[in-house]
Amino acid sequence: MTLDEKIGQLVQRAGGRSKALNSRLDDAELERVRQGGVGSYLHVAGAEPLGRLQKVAIEESRLGIPLLFAMDVVHGYRTIFPVPIAMASSWAPESAERAARIATEEATAAGLHWTFAPMIDIARDARWGRIVEGAGEDPYLGSRMAVAQVAGYQGGNVLRPGSLMATAKHFGAYGAAIGGRDYNTADISERTLQEVYLPPFYAAARAGAGSFMAAFNDIGGVPTTANRDLLRATLRERWGWQGLMVSDWGSIGELLAHGVAADRAAAATLALDAAVDMDMVGGVYADDLKDAIAKDPVRLKLLDEAVLRILRVKDALGLFDQPMAYHDIEREARELLAAEHREAARAIARQSIVLLKNDGKLLPLDASKLRSIAVIGPLATDGLSSLGSWRAQGKAEEVVTILQGITAAAPATLKIVHAIGDDERKEPFNNIEAAIKVARRADLVVLVIGENFDLSGEARSRSSLDLPPGQAELARRVLATGKPVVVVLANGRPLALGAVAEQAPAILETWMLGIEAGNAVADVLFGAYSPAGRLPAAFPRATGASPSHYSANATGRPADPDLAKDTVRYHDLPITPLYPFGFGLSYSEFKYTDLAQSTGKIGAGERVDISITVENVGGVASDEVVQLYIRDPVASIARPVLELRGFKRIELGAGQKKRVTFSLTPDQFSFWSARGQWLIEAGRIDFWIGASSADLRASGSFEILKTHAGTVPATALPTRVIVSNN
Ligand code: NOJ
Repeated sequence: MTLDEKIGQLVQRAGGRSKALNSRLDDAELERVRQGGVGSYLHVAGAEPLGRLQKVAIEESRLGIPLLFAMDVVHGYRTIFPVPIAMASSWAPESAERAARIATEEATAAGLHWTFAPMIDIARDARWGRIVEGAGEDPYLGSRMAVAQVAGYQGGNVLRPGSLMATAKHFGAYGAAIGGRDYNTADISERTLQEVYLPPFYAAARAGAGSFMAAFNDIGGVPTTANRDLLRATLRERWGWQGLMVSDWGSIGELLAHGVAADRAAAATLALDAAVDMDMVGGVYADDLKDAIAKDPVRLKLLDEAVLRILRVKDALGLFDQPMAYHDIEREARELLAAEHREAARAIARQSIVLLKNDGKLLPLDASKLRSIAVIGPLATDGLSSLGSWRAQGKAEEVVTILQGITAAAPATLKIVHAIGDDERKEPFNNIEAAIKVARRADLVVLVIGENFDLSGEARSRSSLDLPPGQAELARRVLATGKPVVVVLANGRPLALGAVAEQAPAILETWMLGIEAGNAVADVLFGAYSPAGRLPAAFPRATGASPSHYSANATGRPADPDLAKDTVRYHDLPITPLYPFGFGLSYSEFKYTDLAQSTGKIGAGERVDISITVENVGGVASDEVVQLYIRDPVASIARPVLELRGFKRIELGAGQKKRVTFSLTPDQFSFWSARGQWLIEAGRIDFWIGASSADLRASGSFEILKTHAGTVPATALPTRVIVSNN
């Protein structure tokens, strides 16, 4: 390969000038492909146009190296599933895997080889707009969701022909942006980095994610795109990961703005040194890497390594043997929006709904006792918002809106009326009056409020977690009518609900549920399905109380909710969040009994089995999410007051019970020691099993016998869970 051809492999270009998809490229662009100047395109799609483009690469370029086609297929391609924070609310990694598999079937039929998903950044500050794209605040839950999605996209732990290559992004502490402002510096301790932000990435690397994306931001002054320690020493050398590292959009060029490179050649050098293989869109490698290498030919070796990694991926996907395998037009027509894909989208959407409040058992609605329901709020008919900010090829007109879903599920005797109330995007807010009139005439109001899709996602951080003003006013007025009100929240982040949480008798968190949003909401409202989603991130009581994660370190002034003063709390707020991590109600009730453990002591390599019986005593078939938390009460450093170390969503018919057994090994209690190593310390471990981080039903403890070195982040390791009937 010539130097130009090598560099060409490192170049990723956008199909369109903006993020708009454009797979039909102009002559100048095709010429670039013929010259071997491009390794990959993003924001392109379509079996036929991409097939033609691929043919140019393999038939008309000197070396005939196939192109890689990439897109952000984040929660579905044409069949759009719930946004990731919603899927994480299902606490069902197997469902996230299924969604990713279906997305893969569609996307690979449409010519795509590579997705920029899963986004596995831990997010504790709800102001950060991208909290919607991940699995929330917890590294254990985050790791399980990461692994599930990688498996779904790739079809196993190695890339193979037909895989959609997964991207673990945005490595490594993008979610820790100060103040929740997107792209901002992460200034965190090494321990927090190792124990909280990196474990999902470790888990994804182990699960064989074919690619990683470096985050835009810097960690303590080191921009990730130039972070040799993290990208090369940790990920590649220590973790042994050998995949393709892609920059984020233009982030190599942004090294100039960070002030760590004086010119583009220096930026190219820094990124190559850090083992960033591919330059997304920025054109820095394309234009300036040659100069950088001329100045220091030793870098040729690094270039060769990067090229080799890219070629290896292309080979693993089968592109050298069967370059046209991803371009079967008939398969594309068959796969997109297939009936079973829609069915899965509905099933997963209803699994993702979290019941936050249900005073007086207002839900499920008894349709036979109601004559009319007023469905109020702009989000009830906003199909685009149901799709979320990444919607690949999803189309608003294909969405079952919340209003449509409710209307379809209501019996003929039940009249459904709708009023917008207020559309945040169109001031002045002058529809509220009309909505109140509609509300007054109905027996019950379903108030659909939250955030439209454009209020969360990339570059969509908010300084406030309050409901947008128009929505808050609409809620205030509707609640003041005195009608029974079911609040259906549709939003991309935990919100500070304020008066709505106090006054509304029933609240459902639905996030953005995708193409089957309306049917899923109706299934839950009318009781065809009992909600069992659990919050993957706490809802703070006020914006100023974010972050409100449960897994905070023990302090010298413990956060005792009964102590009014002089503890680690705000003077003007209770220490507890409004809704804690892991929280969610059900239409049924569950009893936890007969806790047992196999041993009171474990040595290195041994395990303890902790079992509990969970019985559905509420008379309604429903899933329950059984959660295992631990605490290391005395260690050489202060440890979190509670840490999730296992969970299982189980189905329970009315009256049914099941025995759930969690198996734990000492490796799952390692922490990042004061000396900067994984360490497992001898001593007691306390554990609890419960229905949320704040609803712990049974507890016990055991002892770890021997202090010894660990090798991996504890939360990256899965806890084995066995469920048996009893
Ligand atoms: C920038 C985003 O940060 C990243 O998540 C995404 O994959 C790329 N743009 C490509 O769209």
